[in-house]
Amino acid sequence: MIKILKPTDENITLASGIIKSGGLAAFPTETVYGLGADVFSRRGIAGIFEAKNRPFFDPLICHISSLEEVQRLSSEFPPEAIMLAERFWPGPLTLVLPRHTDVPDIVTSGLPTVAVRMPAHDVALRLIKKCGTPLAAPSANPFGCLSPTTAAHVAEALDGKIEVVIDGGPCPVGVESTIVKADKTGIFLLRPGGISVEEIEAATGLKVLTPNASETPEAPGQLPYHYSPMTPLRLVKKITGDMLSIKDAAFLFFTKPVDITAGITANTGFLSQGGDLREAASAVFSELHRLDSLRPSVIIAEEVPAEGLGLAIMDRLIKASKRTSPQS
Ligand code: TXA
Ligand code: MG
Repeated sequence: MIKILKPTDENITLASGIIKSGGLAAFPTETVYGLGADVFSRRGIAGIFEAKNRPFFDPLICHISSLEEVQRLSSEFPPEAIMLAERFWPGPLTLVLPRHTDVPDIVTSGLPTVAVRMPAHDVALRLIKKCGTPLAAPSANPFGCLSPTTAAHVAEALDGKIEVVIDGGPCPVGVESTIVKADKTGIFLLRPGGISVEEIEAATGLKVLTPNASETPEAPGQLPYHYSPMTPLRLVKKITGDMLSIKDAAFLFFTKPVDITAGITANTGFLSQGGDLREAASAVFSELHRLDSLRPSVIIAEEVPAEGLGLAIMDRLIKASKRTSPQS
């Protein structure tokens, strides 16, 4: 049985002991729960891939608790990346940097770069500090499935695969970090996430570019389907009254439905009361987990505006809708 631990100093010491001896522990961050191992422990890192059933071509994000730790992971910190780190760390922004030779190949999938972020979560920062080493941590869920935003999600998905999860309550941001590569050639968006493109552009005065697949490879490991519930998900522009009669379907509205009241049951969720995209991001995975657990025939989800955090929400919903057959 996986142990769900309160974030006391004693339990953080216990989790750090497991990690320091080459094991794994799940912990909260502001985005989603992470499954952590010592970046420099090949055994620990191999354990992450095994527990998640994750393909080795999908590199991991390294989590730090102070700016100095970047030097252990990266051979170069370009001024453009430093500017972003100073503005957004700790926070949901991951920077792809030239890799230090000490970082094992298995962490970076053999790439010449390494992904680094400093999470804005007290429990994550205390754990990293206690371990005394950066932690490689993907989302604490089986590969391809919905990301976990509570300790209960982790316990359900990884029971029998890991020993402990530290419970820090629900993750406030609710979608993964934004991943960018920033250097003198520009700021490239590799994955939309918890910091919006608009915020990065406002902070730097620079346009955020989308990499041209032929020049800069996109973030690897981003398969067409990802973040999927067990139930097939259908993404529609707007949920209309006639859809509500689809047998055993569940519905995920963007805003609280006011015009359609007949036919609304427990199988109905919404992301935000009044259309706030930050609130919607924090709810998207938890609502999908909830609707999925009702085992409907299909989840019909409504599009959200692709601006601000809506870009990250749409990315997750589109990927969730790409799985064609139900999962076992
Ligand atoms: O919010 C988050 O980022 C969460 C929490 C736990 O911190 N972590 C997370 O990790 O989302 P994961 O494993 O789900 O995402 C890792 C992704 C890879 O799939 C890849 O797209 C990108 O990060 N990545 C990692 N290293 C990279 C590199 N060297 N170059 C480009 N992309 C990289
Ligand atoms: Mg993930």
